[in-house]
Amino acid sequence: MPKVFIIGGTGHIGGAILDLLVGSRPEVEVQALARDEQKAAKVVAKYPRVRCVVGDFASLELIETTCRCADIVINAGPDITHDETLQAVVRGLQNREGGDVKSYFIHTSGAYLICDLQEPGGVKGEKVWDDIEDNEQLVSMPDTAVHRVTDKLVLSAAPHVNVAILSPAGVTGISPSVGHPLPITMPALFKCVRAFRSAFMIDEGANAVGMIHVRDFARMYMVLIDDALATLTGTNKTDSPPFPLWGEKAYYFASAVDTVYRRDWFAGLAPLLEKHGVVSSREVKSVTTAEVARRVLFGENYDPDAAAAPPPDSWATHIAHGLGANLRVRASRMRALGWEPEYMDFMETMDEVIPAYIEREKENGAK
Ligand SMILES: NC(=O)c1ccc[n+]([C@@H]2O[C@H](COP(=O)([O-])OP(=O)(O)OC[C@H]3O[C@@H](n4cnc5c(N)ncnc54)[C@H](OP(=O)(O)O)[C@@H]3O)[C@@H](O)[C@H]2O)c1
Repeated sequence: MPKVFIIGGTGHIGGAILDLLVGSRPEVEVQALARDEQKAAKVVAKYPRVRCVVGDFASLELIETTCRCADIVINAGPDITHDETLQAVVRGLQNREGGDVKSYFIHTSGAYLICDLQEPGGVKGEKVWDDIEDNEQLVSMPDTAVHRVTDKLVLSAAPHVNVAILSPAGVTGISPSVGHPLPITMPALFKCVRAFRSAFMIDEGANAVGMIHVRDFARMYMVLIDDALATLTGTNKTDSPPFPLWGEKAYYFASAVDTVYRRDWFAGLAPLLEKHGVVSSREVKSVTTAEVARRVLFGENYDPDAAAAPPPDSWATHIAHGLGANLRVRASRMRALGWEPEYMDFMETMDEVIPAYIEREKENGAK
């Protein structure tokens, strides 16, 4: 039985992958990393055939040993600054026990790789990055590019491991995840909307991002998992794929739509925020990146006179910059492999996400 080990399987993205994998591939043995026994129990309660390995990214030996026994490893947890964890994954996969075929590593990165960190917020960006046309550039970015250090670490394992990177821009929708059913971006969005008392955009919101529903994103992993399973079981009949699915150039963007202008995004969100009682008008305020960063940090308690601007390398500035940046990415590789998105109406999606987030806040006693 082929063995798949998933890291980040309790997350928004990882939970959608786990759900699809367990539900549709009974021939696969699945292991999942869980940070504690309680989280492990939740995973097993929902998926009795999943075996949990309890540990975190600092459990290097555990991760290496588990990867050594796996045929396919998926990382759907964070990447940046976790070089040591990813090195442990690669070491384990390189030294896999048994099997004539190289093992597989599907890693989650992010489209921030192509973000121009100097770009002023809210301006229009002309370029749509394409993972076929721009492949050479994507796999040879300077180390200063966000995600590049860990992307390089993964891709450079290609001689010994079948590697592939999946790189999303904005991921939305409700996930079947046991731990994080709602998008990672929701807490900061709600904090800012409540602090501004309205929807907002940076400058004129002329910047744009690619977007994908988390369930469509999970189906991209399945394209790669199925190819790996077919090779591992000697049943792969794909003689001539349009490009090598694995290896040092296997960089896949994840988006269903490559260009969602922030102005349109927030104009669409405003009535939904009003409908669900988060704000009392449909106004979309024009604000600056620094104002957003301060609200991400201080929320409704923001005091314009007292609060220092968050440092440029802080999480708050990173989020604010993302809201004003251009992250237009096209998933040409996945489409060439036959993947098509099923979810295209992101406002319909947000009409589910917003009340679900409010409900979750109530459950968690956050408000
Ligand atoms: N979502 C997006 O829009 C987006 C866009 C670009 C890139 N990405 C990349 O995709 C990754 C996953 O995104 P997501 O939205 O699924 O995030 P998420 O919902 O926060 O899930 C993160 C997962 O990683 C696990 N994790 C975090 N830190 C860990 C640690 N130190 N040790 C062990 N496990 C740890 C979490 O475990 P717990 O359940 O225990 O917290 C959870 O399973 C992001 O970190 C980012 O690198 C996401």
